[in-house]
Amino acid sequence: MEIKFIKGDITRQKVDAIVNAANSSLMGGGGVDGAIHRAGGPKILEECEEIVNKIGRLPTGQAVITTAGKMPSKYVIHTVGPIYKNIEHRTQSTELRNCYINSLKLASEKGLKSIAFPSISTGAFRYPLEEAAPIAIQAVKDFLTKEASIKEVYFVLFNNATYEAYVNAA
Ligand code: APR
Repeated sequence: MEIKFIKGDITRQKVDAIVNAANSSLMGGGGVDGAIHRAGGPKILEECEEIVNKIGRLPTGQAVITTAGKMPSKYVIHTVGPIYKNIEHRTQSTELRNCYINSLKLASEKGLKSIAFPSISTGAFRYPLEEAAPIAIQAVKDFLTKEASIKEVYFVLFNNATYEAYVNAA
C-alpha cells in the first residue's frame, strides 16, 4: 500500500477513481468540481442528477459514485467537505475525516485499487491547509491499516502551498 503526493491536475490522473470536492447539490461549481465536470463532460452531471433525485442533497462527509465521462479515470467519487467556521472545531474535523473515510469505503466496496484525492475543503470552503492536511493523511492511513483492498492512494495537489502543506504533514 502506498500514499503518494503529486503536484498536478486531478482530472488527468489515470486511476480507478478520482475524488471530487463537491457541494451538497452535486450540480457542479468552481475549483476542482468545475474542472472535473468540464473535463468529464455532461454525462457526470446527468448521473449526479439521478442520484439527487433518489437520495436528495448529499450530506457533508458522505460520498457517492458516478462514472468519469471523458477523463482517464474510471469513476468519480463525489464527497462534500465542511465549510470552515471558526467555531465547532470538533464537528468539522470529523466531517472532513468522514469525506476521506467514506470515499475510501465506497472505492473498496466497488473493488477499486487506486484512488486520487484533491485537498478537500481547503479552497472555496476555506479550511486552513495546516489543519486539513494532517486530518486527510491520518484518515487515509487509518483506513489503509484496516482494509487492504486499496493499493494506491494519491493526493493530487494543485499548487505549491498545498503540496508543501501535505508533504510537511506527512
Ligand atoms: N486538480 C486538483 N486540485 C484542484 C484542481 C484540479 N484540477 N482545481 C482546484 N484544485 C484544488 C484547489 O486549489 C484546492 O486546493 O482543490 C482544492 C479544493 O478547493 P475547491 O475546489 O475550492 O474545493 P472546496 O474548498 O472543498 O470547496 C468546495 O467549491 O466550487 C465548489 O462546488 C464546489 O461548492 C463547492 C466548493
